[in-house]
Amino acid sequence: MTKKALVSAAAGIAAWLATGCAFAAPQFSFSKPSVIAGAKLFAEHCSACHSVGSLRYNRLVELGMTEAQIKKDIMTPDGANYLQGMTPTMNMAEAKQWFGIAPPNLSHIVRAQGKTWVYTYLTSFYWDPQRPSGWNNHLFPNVAMPDILSPWGGTYAKDGTLMQPGLESQAVYHKQVAEIVDFLRYASDPSIFKRRADGPYVLGVLILLSLFAYLLKKEYWKDVHKNDKTGK
Ligand code: HEC
Repeated sequence: MTKKALVSAAAGIAAWLATGCAFAAPQFSFSKPSVIAGAKLFAEHCSACHSVGSLRYNRLVELGMTEAQIKKDIMTPDGANYLQGMTPTMNMAEAKQWFGIAPPNLSHIVRAQGKTWVYTYLTSFYWDPQRPSGWNNHLFPNVAMPDILSPWGGTYAKDGTLMQPGLESQAVYHKQVAEIVDFLRYASDPSIFKRRADGPYVLGVLILLSLFAYLLKKEYWKDVHKNDKTGK
């Protein structure tokens, strides 16, 4: 590395630190409260366009929400049915006309792409006047989705300069994006909390069964060993 390259690398790191580490690694806490927070943010910002068709609203009771809370905070789209999958507000045929592509059902997006991909996608939008929506994305070039969260996270140019600050601090904004991703991770695999809670019991039963199997084996072989000694 030349001296000049070293200096510019150091300046780059300093600038990055000064911007409050805008590219800090995502902090997923993945807990029931973070999933609930994410579900509320999703209802507020995303369910205008996206369905989460495989996740029934009533399933959220498992997270500790009451039916009344779900109806008030999560079932925001008209026509949402408590016993059915999460529906979008927008008519998909119209959405297709507007965006050129219907906003996809996000039930399995985290399984398909991974948490980090979805997080990076949501934080990689930049202002691009050449696009019909005015938005582009570093991870998903020429994406049809506008940067819905820009009023909160800020508007960035392609080179990363901040054009218009958002309403939230970077720390709060990134935490909220991580919560939305936590919710989508839960949606793609909703039995996860139950599995994790049941796991220790299942392992306990298996250990107990192994113990009995061992005692039984000892009991069976006792006579064989006795016969070994007596030479019969
Ligand atoms: C105004 C409508 C609209 C809103 C609101 C919206 N999206 Fe989208 N979204 C779209 C469209 C349209 C696409 C398809 C983009 C493409 O394929 O070019 C998309 C694509 C995506 C994708 C990529 C899916 C894939 O197939 O790879 C993800 C992830 C996503 N949106 C997440 C979100 C989240 C999370 C929110 C809320 C913070 C949100 N979207 C809000 C319209 C919207």
